[in-house]
Amino acid sequence: FSRIAVLTSGGDAPGMNAAVRAVVRTAIARGIDCFGVHRGYSGLVDGDIRPMTSRSVKNIIQRGGTILKSDRCLEFKEQAIRWQAYETLTEMGIEALVVIGGDGSLAGARLFAKETGMPVIGLPGTIDNDIPASDDTIGFDTAVNTALDAIDRIRDTADSHGRVFLVEVMGRNSGHIASEVGIAGGADFVVLPETEVRSDTFQELSTERTRFEEKSALIIVAEGENEQRIHQIAGDLKQQGHEPRICILGHTQRGGSPTGHDRVLASGMGAIAVEFLLAGYGCHMVGVRSGAFFACPLDEIHLAHPESAAEQSFDSLWRLLK
Ligand code: F6P
Repeated sequence: FSRIAVLTSGGDAPGMNAAVRAVVRTAIARGIDCFGVHRGYSGLVDGDIRPMTSRSVKNIIQRGGTILKSDRCLEFKEQAIRWQAYETLTEMGIEALVVIGGDGSLAGARLFAKETGMPVIGLPGTIDNDIPASDDTIGFDTAVNTALDAIDRIRDTADSHGRVFLVEVMGRNSGHIASEVGIAGGADFVVLPETEVRSDTFQELSTERTRFEEKSALIIVAEGENEQRIHQIAGDLKQQGHEPRICILGHTQRGGSPTGHDRVLASGMGAIAVEFLLAGYGCHMVGVRSGAFFACPLDEIHLAHPESAAEQSFDSLWRLLK
């Protein structure tokens, strides 16, 4: 290759800048010109593509967000739009693409590579950690630590007042942030998207609170699909005589400086993406499994690998700690 491009797409995630930096610098080290596409797939469609140098990625490894900006480009679901993007790239002499984003962005990358034949390497960049083929995604560790920081503060006030707090964390339909935060934050309950909440679910809480004289309690709720869920749970708890407080952490979890873990993960994935292109991979994602990077076909990113029994291990750890 003599020219490749890189873009960030979908919800931003801390560490995306570190990944962009690694792609640009590895490409340059390999004698390849690298271009940055602005605003995700929208920039591909509009031709908002600019040359990048080693200096243009200076001083960004520690910054949250993405210097390339991001977008959820619904237009890219249309085949004609994907061909328009392909023409824009080929007119500029760009021969391959690196896409950093979550499952929707990687689905777009897969279609684009299959239809046009242009080599594409995806990097899992999402705080949700909901790409089953990979043990980890860029931004997840930072989001967990940001949420934990907030939860530790909430516990202080919850304890002072002996209150029940419901804290909602992000993750779309997956409960990875909620389960890690629940364990690390010493929560009393974790409500995952698949958890069935019944009228007696928090019975144990009432008994314990009476026994320990109004002790505080922390319930982590994964956002899931039902926006009203946390309010419904609060309603149930009120009926049981508690005075719950709700805290929705929301987009605070998407911002901030990436942790060391995310910087290293993103740097490794960015560098490997260029190496994979040079090795002839062209419709793949850089995944990580048991600490090692591997090329996962974009067709298979939704298949959980057998060793990663993340949910099972959460269940057994949770039972031990309660
Ligand atoms: O996928 C990342 C994520 O932050 C999810 O956890 C959340 O459900 C969603 O994006 C929010 O999207 P938006 O920023 O478009 O509101």
